[in-house]
Amino acid sequence: MIGFLVFSSIALLPSCSGSIASPCNFPAIFNFGDSNSDTGGLSASFGQAPAPNGETYFHAPAGRYSDGRLIIDFIAESLGLPHLSAYLDSVGSNFSHGANFASAGATIRPQNTTKSQSGVSPFSFDVQLVQFSDFQKRSQFFNKQGIFEKLLPKEDYFSQALYTFDMGQNDLTAGYKLNLTTEQVKASVPDILSQFSNAVKKAYNDGGRAFWIHNTGPAGCLPYVLDRFPITAAQVDKYGCATPFNEVAQYFNQKLKDVVSQLRKELPSAAFTYVDVYSVKYTLISQAKKFGFELPLIACCGHGGKYNFNNLLRCGAKIKENGKEILIAKSCQNPSVRVIWDGIHFTEAANKWIFEQIANGSYSDPPIPLKMACHLSESTD
Ligand SMILES: *[C@@H]1O[C@H](CO)[C@@H](O)[C@H](O)[C@H]1NC(C)=O
Ligand SMILES: *[C@@H]1O[C@H](CO)[C@@H](O)[C@H](O)[C@H]1NC(C)=O
Ligand SMILES: *[C@@H]1O[C@H](CO)[C@@H](O)[C@H](O)[C@H]1NC(C)=O
Ligand SMILES: *[C@@H]1O[C@H](CO)[C@@H](O)[C@H](O)[C@H]1NC(C)=O
Repeated sequence: MIGFLVFSSIALLPSCSGSIASPCNFPAIFNFGDSNSDTGGLSASFGQAPAPNGETYFHAPAGRYSDGRLIIDFIAESLGLPHLSAYLDSVGSNFSHGANFASAGATIRPQNTTKSQSGVSPFSFDVQLVQFSDFQKRSQFFNKQGIFEKLLPKEDYFSQALYTFDMGQNDLTAGYKLNLTTEQVKASVPDILSQFSNAVKKAYNDGGRAFWIHNTGPAGCLPYVLDRFPITAAQVDKYGCATPFNEVAQYFNQKLKDVVSQLRKELPSAAFTYVDVYSVKYTLISQAKKFGFELPLIACCGHGGKYNFNNLLRCGAKIKENGKEILIAKSCQNPSVRVIWDGIHFTEAANKWIFEQIANGSYSDPPIPLKMACHLSESTD
């Protein structure tokens, strides 16, 4: 049932030179996405993700919904680049090696509700692309002036950079929040993906040539979904995940893979890598023990209930008692052996493990390592 990619007849086309391809030496990363890769966008706009977020690595809230680093942080580190500053964060940011346009709660399609109504971010994918375009144009003017030379990317970085994407989860859950049936959510996928494709083409038009695209994870294994949506016993798989939500995610991923193939055909001078993060996350959750993790469906940081998740008292929530604020949605003892951080996002330990699985290309189509993702090579389909 889990769509492990089977690689056969792989032909790595050497890029230009005719010899073995060399590493890309990406000078920058431009990232687009939701909370899975937000390094401070939503925090800069709507207030910091509260402590204990950030406790493991940053030792303070750091704009991330995790105890520490995200997959995008490990991607940056592995390429020898600094962690990405959030485009929306005007304090202490340094964009010389890239920028992060991701925002927690972001969807691919703009939603017809506000953040206060439904929790969705106003910084949907189309908006993130407008921000990127503006950033690209304006930085080329300012990066020749004084201090900005050391804060903004060089002009040629835009064509040499790695463009990373991790989006879709919130589009699917947004449908369920509107009480759509699974069939109705599925029916919205073509429109979601056509908007995804258009946005990627905008990044291409602004100079992007290397695209690294994560598919969407098994949302049906997240406490956030398990706790808040009605799920019958028959809809739970043997690991405790909600099958309808995972099937929709897999359906989305199948279609996303087709869209990426189509982009490859339409834009033959760009390299597109589709990364099956779903399978990696599902493997981790379903075989947690084997990989040194425990309690894969229980949030590390939260408050009460079957999954240690309460949507009204999420990680970092405080209550007032006798005029004093006390933290009641606390971290667990040992986040380094836990998979799920706050009921929605992964721990740093899980993010690191996931990164290690995807970095060498074994979950990618075409199956080339991250550091080679600028090279044109044949996909397996
Ligand atoms: C928002 O409303 C418009 C007009 O009814 C509709 O076409 C569009 O699909 C809606 N967007 C979403 C994400 O539901
Ligand atoms: C921004 O970061 C780069 C790379 O880490 C560094 O070389 C540069 O000096 C930094 N800019 C400022 C103004 O500190
Ligand atoms: C969805 O259904 C629930 C339960 O029937 C209801 O309370 C809620 O208002 C509905 N939401 C929307 C957006 O229609
Ligand atoms: C990729 O890395 C993972 C994790 O280190 C490892 O288990 C796997 O065997 C590697 N695959 C290949 C094809 O090198």
